[in-house]
Amino acid sequence: MLLRLLRDVISSLKKPVEPDVLRRAIELRNQSLHDEAIKTLTMLLECKPDSVAALMLRGVAKRESGRLHEAMADFARAEELDPHDPHCIYELAAGWYALGNHRLALEYCERGRRIAPDSDMLFALLAQIKLGGEFYIDVLARILDQVKPRTYVEIGVFRGNSLRLAKPPTLAIGIDPEPQLIAPLAENHKVFAETSDAFFAGRDLRAELGGLPVDVAFIDGMHNFEFALRDFANLERHCTRGSIILIHDCYPLDQESAGRAPRAVNWSGDIWRLIVLLKKYRPDLSISTIGTPPTGLGLVRNLDPNSRFLFDHNDRLCEEFLALDYSYLDEDMPGKLNLFPNEWGKIRALIE
Ligand SMILES: C[S@@+](CC[C@H](N)C(=O)[O-])C[C@H]1O[C@@H](n2cnc3c(N)ncnc32)[C@H](O)[C@@H]1O
Repeated sequence: MLLRLLRDVISSLKKPVEPDVLRRAIELRNQSLHDEAIKTLTMLLECKPDSVAALMLRGVAKRESGRLHEAMADFARAEELDPHDPHCIYELAAGWYALGNHRLALEYCERGRRIAPDSDMLFALLAQIKLGGEFYIDVLARILDQVKPRTYVEIGVFRGNSLRLAKPPTLAIGIDPEPQLIAPLAENHKVFAETSDAFFAGRDLRAELGGLPVDVAFIDGMHNFEFALRDFANLERHCTRGSIILIHDCYPLDQESAGRAPRAVNWSGDIWRLIVLLKKYRPDLSISTIGTPPTGLGLVRNLDPNSRFLFDHNDRLCEEFLALDYSYLDEDMPGKLNLFPNEWGKIRALIE
């Protein structure tokens, strides 16, 4: 009854009704009344077959109600009408991924990244397609849960999402010049609002940890290689042979996100250089890069608190590795960065 009325309204009125009908369809979809939303949009499309908004909305409603093939037909038609709509390209990429066509999914993702380089959704989907498995934060949670470290040091806290994974009785220290915590700290957490360089220059980490060494550390601060190198060297001094240093963002997704100029979103920077450096000059270390989306998680063991090499040769090392071009990774990136399968059984064996 309501639908008949809507159809009459749409066909009889001369004034534009598209926005009202779209709004109504959105309301229906928000109430999970997908079939009603699809019928409403179908009527609108009978009058306005080239409405990209209606096609997109109907496609989403169809996808959400499990009719993915039909949804893809709507997205494909929307793409014909507007080939530069990032939302449409994302839906096509995600749809092809869900349908098992990874080649087409990748093509759409890469095209979408060129049109909307700041889209989080396209970045995350591209990472999921390329790497697969659990995101870094879930793998970090598993590692902390498995190791149950006495101490945890995190460089780069941001909202506190990763720091909060360190549960009592772990004593957890976060270092970040601009933390933006979204929840109060727990009793086992302490955050120093300063750069990691200032922290290591002015404080004694071991004293802050009550005399204990660093059991697990996570480097996720400034995303330029030379900062991560200093963070690594400063942390290693406080480790034992059995400690673990985790390094975020060392398996870049593409050249765009691996640039040195800071970007507000989707920025892994050139941390990958640190893995290449450690492989070349610290063969005593055990180095793996777990292929976690979005941009890998380095895991370094067999640390040597007495090693001076990274401190003593800092300038020379920076010069050598900053001269490496991204194209160095064109051939055999997995081999060059010691890619390790993102499978919990294998990761657990690695840290046991
Ligand atoms: C990607 S965020 C960290 C995200 C967090 N680890 C997580 O997984 O939720 C990077 C953080 O590093 C911080 N940062 C930037 N420069 C830094 C520095 N020199 N020392 C320590 N932290 C720094 C930024 O303020 C930002 O909050």
